[in-house]
Amino acid sequence: MTVEKITDEATPITAGQADYLISLAARAPSVHNTQPWRFTVSTDAIELHADLRRRLGVDLAGREMLISCGAALFGLRLAVRSLGYQPVVELLPEPGRLRLLARVRLGAAAPVTALERKMLEAVPHRHTHRGPFQPGPLPAGLLAGLQHDAVAEGAVLAVVETERADGKLADILAGASRRQDADPVARADVRRWSRDAGDRARDGVPAQAFPAVPGREAGRLPQRDFDLGRGFGLLTGDGSPAEVTAVLLTGGDGRADWLNAGQALQRILLHAASKWVFASLHTQPLEAATIRSLIKTRLALPGSPQMLLQLGVARTTQATARRPARELIDP
Ligand SMILES: Cc1cc2nc3c(=O)[nH]c(=O)nc-3n(C[C@H](O)[C@H](O)[C@H](O)COP(=O)(O)O)c2cc1C
Repeated sequence: MTVEKITDEATPITAGQADYLISLAARAPSVHNTQPWRFTVSTDAIELHADLRRRLGVDLAGREMLISCGAALFGLRLAVRSLGYQPVVELLPEPGRLRLLARVRLGAAAPVTALERKMLEAVPHRHTHRGPFQPGPLPAGLLAGLQHDAVAEGAVLAVVETERADGKLADILAGASRRQDADPVARADVRRWSRDAGDRARDGVPAQAFPAVPGREAGRLPQRDFDLGRGFGLLTGDGSPAEVTAVLLTGGDGRADWLNAGQALQRILLHAASKWVFASLHTQPLEAATIRSLIKTRLALPGSPQMLLQLGVARTTQATARRPARELIDP
């Protein structure tokens, strides 16, 4: 999907279109389903802002918040494509306004491609997969396609190929996850953003989406503990380990890189979901800068690690709730 340069004339955006565009953007994944985004709508542009009240306590720099908002930005761009326009995007358009992340306009008319259509169809069933995968490889050619998606968004999807590299990663993560599960700030974040079965909240991680005891099986990276021993988690089931472990990297490690990582993430996840391939995300250890640089060095990665993914085939969907567009728009 190409992004156009700015021209003087932009197509007006109707209120109905703005609602549709924002609803689709808001289906993006976000850390702990915090949905840390706000939008403003003018006659010819939608602006995406970070919502600092929804930033995690462990995320002081806002890295995970901006990756989440980047994922929403990709959804906004894809939604613009579905209306038959090229999105015109200004990233971080006013350096003095830190919360303003992007301004998106409708550019030249251009028909939706077959892949974009498939990604749009995947939006409702794309989900973060914490349960078992089905046995069997990823569809032929998909991994190369996902790697191409990452590059198109200014990122790299590095596959952890050898058993040795996988072992090194698992070792680093095992120690880091145990320490972080015990960290009081991380635990307070999980308490604020995880929900028990009766909760009607339209944000946070619902009990149906996580197990009571986080999966630590062989072949799977350690999962974040959303339950904290409360017995909320309802997710169960046996299955195969994921087929592919991958790290999403960016060249730099600043605000624009985090937004690009988020755009790459949502593009990869939607493309994969269009083939019924889903990802579990294991980013808790990446919250510590020391662990991120350790992973980069020990695995000799050509960039800064932003997300850890495990990809596999599944036939289930676990869509989580979102707040409606009208609750996300500022006057
Ligand atoms: C930056 C970021 C970090 C995330 N980290 C984790 C994680 O460590 N463990 C996990 O299970 N899910 C993680 N997720 C997935 C979110 O919990 C998930 O997107 C959110 O709950 C919404 O659910 P959905 O993706 O199924 O729509 C992360 C998502 C993002 C964008």
